[in-house]
Amino acid sequence: MSDIGEENDILAYGSIFCYILEMCGIIGYIGKKQALPILLKGLRDLEYRGYDSAGIALINDGKIERVREVGKVDMLVKKIDGHKFPGNIGIAHTRWATHGGVTEKNAHPHIAGEGKLVLAHNGIIENYRELKKKVKGPFESETDTEILAKWIFLNYKGDLSQAVKKALLSVRGTYGLAVMHADHPDEIVAARLGSPLVIGIGKDEYYLASDVTPIIPYTKQVTYLDDGEVAVINRKDLKIFNLKDEQITKGITKIDWNTEKAQKGGFETFMLKEIFDQPTVFEDAIRGRIDMKEGTAKLGGLNMSPEEMQKIKRIILIACGTAFYACMAARYAFERLSGIPTEVDVSSEFRYRDPIVDEHTLIFAVSQSGETIDTIMALREAKRKGGVVRGIVNVVGSTIARETGAGTYIHAGPELAVASTKAYTNMVAILLLYALQFGRLHHTTVSTGQRMLQELLEIPEKINKILKNSDNIKILAKKYKDYENFLFLGRGVNYPVVLEGSHKLKEISYIHSEAYPAGEMKHGANALLSKNFPVLVVMTQNQLYEKIKSNVEEVRARKSEIIVIATESDKSAKELSDDIIYVPKTMELLEPLLNTIPLQLFAYHIAAMLHRDVDRPRNLAKSVTVE
Ligand code: AGP
Repeated sequence: MSDIGEENDILAYGSIFCYILEMCGIIGYIGKKQALPILLKGLRDLEYRGYDSAGIALINDGKIERVREVGKVDMLVKKIDGHKFPGNIGIAHTRWATHGGVTEKNAHPHIAGEGKLVLAHNGIIENYRELKKKVKGPFESETDTEILAKWIFLNYKGDLSQAVKKALLSVRGTYGLAVMHADHPDEIVAARLGSPLVIGIGKDEYYLASDVTPIIPYTKQVTYLDDGEVAVINRKDLKIFNLKDEQITKGITKIDWNTEKAQKGGFETFMLKEIFDQPTVFEDAIRGRIDMKEGTAKLGGLNMSPEEMQKIKRIILIACGTAFYACMAARYAFERLSGIPTEVDVSSEFRYRDPIVDEHTLIFAVSQSGETIDTIMALREAKRKGGVVRGIVNVVGSTIARETGAGTYIHAGPELAVASTKAYTNMVAILLLYALQFGRLHHTTVSTGQRMLQELLEIPEKINKILKNSDNIKILAKKYKDYENFLFLGRGVNYPVVLEGSHKLKEISYIHSEAYPAGEMKHGANALLSKNFPVLVVMTQNQLYEKIKSNVEEVRARKSEIIVIATESDKSAKELSDDIIYVPKTMELLEPLLNTIPLQLFAYHIAAMLHRDVDRPRNLAKSVTVE
């Protein structure tokens, strides 16, 4: 059984400990109104941040009352079922598990001090082991949050806010938290380090939440907590301190978003928000999973010893749609770093083609939802034939996670838009880490491994740089939105990139597009080229750069308009193109992590300008549970 956050990241599914990252939601209320309806509505408003379990805690008559339930907020409401939980102070939490079991005991809020103190928390307590030795069991849950609750309680000497400040001085990790104590029925203490919290200011009442969504119906005046700040909130007063106990004066912000816009973080759609989430969730994907000293990855969820890994002679990646393109993008790394023959197959084909699989074949089933029926059936087929099957999944506790029994969660957080964006990027990240982990058992050197890890660490910043170019990509989208056909070209690692770019354009804009390996054009697709058939080429400076350049020359001769994705400051790419989008340079194997982002934005802006329902494109579903 793995321990909490055993190295942040092992994830044998079913590992009993949980980590809660950014995407959970906290809501708190203190004032004159009944807290329960405010908390339940708040949980509903925050449900987009996580929905696998939820819980509330209120103080009434000097006692803490708590209810938690697995499932959506509706399940919690059902459990409460008309019971009145009176009280005008309370906190609540909706969870999106990123590790460990989705159980009532792991749901927040957690208690300490025989039910005197209660805590809701988003984030990761990295030194939970150290703290665990200092606090007293028994432990009701398998979470780092419960240890934190006990740690704060141990520091409690009659003053709750002092206890929180003192306790947090020796906490390493990230948190957005809200604490109450039964003996302080007039006080909520909140703190932030790396996980957002905002305080809504009403008349003799305060609201506390992970974002402004649940606060908006009650007040438009808010104060954002910054990292390292502790808020002491009572009915009359809000004071903010740093951890050195110095009081800080903060400004008030006026919010004019409606609830829907707030849930989308101020973006027009979930898809655009999720595109912009990518730098952050990418960090979540790789956090704790790299070993710089050894130049390797540490993904314990594989659940195999190095000796067992050495016995793997073939790797097959199975998936559908965008997940399939993520697998294709990572295949190059598997083969180049480990030398292990690696195949990629569409699940719906794999399951019917009587695949050749034995005990030396490792099959990764890759899926955002973990519920895609074709991938489930394909992994069952692989198991039946004696293959070693592992999952790479976003949704914790999903069917693929359970049926594979071991594997890795990609930590992309809830992805609500039908078109997958951030899950793709995190799938590629995890697959690259696996490729490196296998590579280091074969011929990849420590220095190559270190270089790759260093490049991975720089990816979030580079994605940010591309995202900053969104408005320029929008201008291009305006120019190209009325074409009826597109051709996408790439070679090597950029062939799967253009497949995904073309897939994105099709599914959200309904424009016909095809993706081709550029070297294949002369065998047929050249016949399509004309003035009315724009071609988008990904031609970053890698080993196939000169080759694809010649392919683009051929396209140019046929008068098609050419949009190029090129490495920044590549002047000759500019000369070849009508329009150009630059991306930062990275190691060739990592290029799909960057080069896909402008294609997501290109597809997005075209679809938005064509007034498509970007988050819910016609005829498509987020989770494809039928064959
Ligand atoms: C992605 O934009 C698509 N909506 C779709 O291709 C999706 O990637 C595919 O259905 C696989 O889903 P999964 O990752 O949940 O298994």
